[in-house]
Amino acid sequence: MNALVELSDAHVVHKARSGGLFTRDKVYALTGADLTIAPGETVGVVGESGCGKSTLAKVLVGVERPTAGTVSLRGRDLWAMGPAERRTAVGAGTGMIFQDPSTALNRRLPIRQILRDPLDVHDRGTRVQREERVRELMSLVGLPRALTDALPGQLSGGQRQRVAIARALALDPGLVVADEPTSALDVSVRAQILNLLLDLKERLGLALVFVSHDIQTVRRMSDRVITMYLGRIVEEAPAAGVTDGSRHPYTRALFSATPGLLDPIDPIPLVGPVPSATRPPSGCPFRTRCWKADEVCAREMPGFTAASSPEHRFRCHHPVEEGEATRDLVRQSHSSREPS
Ligand SMILES: Nc1ncnc2c1ncn2[C@@H]1O[C@H](COP(=O)(O)OP(=O)(O)OP(=O)(O)O)[C@@H](O)[C@H]1O
Ligand SMILES: [Mg+2]
Repeated sequence: MNALVELSDAHVVHKARSGGLFTRDKVYALTGADLTIAPGETVGVVGESGCGKSTLAKVLVGVERPTAGTVSLRGRDLWAMGPAERRTAVGAGTGMIFQDPSTALNRRLPIRQILRDPLDVHDRGTRVQREERVRELMSLVGLPRALTDALPGQLSGGQRQRVAIARALALDPGLVVADEPTSALDVSVRAQILNLLLDLKERLGLALVFVSHDIQTVRRMSDRVITMYLGRIVEEAPAAGVTDGSRHPYTRALFSATPGLLDPIDPIPLVGPVPSATRPPSGCPFRTRCWKADEVCAREMPGFTAASSPEHRFRCHHPVEEGEATRDLVRQSHSSREPS
């Protein structure tokens, strides 16, 4: 596969924020992530809060340095480059869209300046060409010309997110990462922003990494879905079959919680809290909440197993059988938890 971005055994370990000044606690935000993203594909990322989705997103676009492992952009190791070279590679090659456009944009700058800034920083074209590019970007994301001199505060939330998208696209990157791009917006404008992203992705041939809590939206938007749990990628599955074809019990549980309208089922219960990212359980981190877990799961984290369809792999000692309906898993999960 001709990779656009490739993570190889990427780890991010933070010092814990709480717990006193002299704590040596570490937070395992991302553990052993291997991931390849091809030009033009859309990859969705799902998992509960704190599982490392934003960390993965930031590592992919080169704004966060992994504490171990490598990130390659078009085959070149980002963190082996010098700082200037990396800034150029990252700035021109990737774009990031954040959750809240009102904090992501400089409140004192007019839209024109916000959109010109990346062109100025990376010294693209002449003054006239930059002005022209700003106009082009505004029309690309459907912002009226009249807003060129407006400040972010004078725009609606949806318009602000369009500005953020335009800015991310300013240098024509091959990869755009959108981290919860609609969760701070009114429900009424969410679909417009999602459609805009899909439309731009088609027109510009972008690879898109899309992070959201709304997993049905992730499924609809994506070619491939990545499931994360406690800092680890535990499954990669084609989006079309993820609801009933995913093999990791956790992916099934996640997707069972928001069934389609046609054939609703009881969700597979995820009992208890997500364990601490400071002291992840031994072996498979999901075992403390998994109805299939046994001693093997406590002993070691399984490697990836290839599923029958290409682009589908999972890390589980006791995967869901191929073709097994989620409906049956619901029963299984309940009966395994009944006191005996
Ligand atoms: N700078 C930091 N210092 C310490 N811990 C951090 C830091 N950034 C993130 N973490 C921790 O790393 C883990 C992963 O965080 P991350 O933000 O990637 O999760 P997430 O999946 O994006 O969560 P959410 O769905 O809530 O946005 C969490 O336990 C978080 O508290
Ligand atoms: Mg996040």
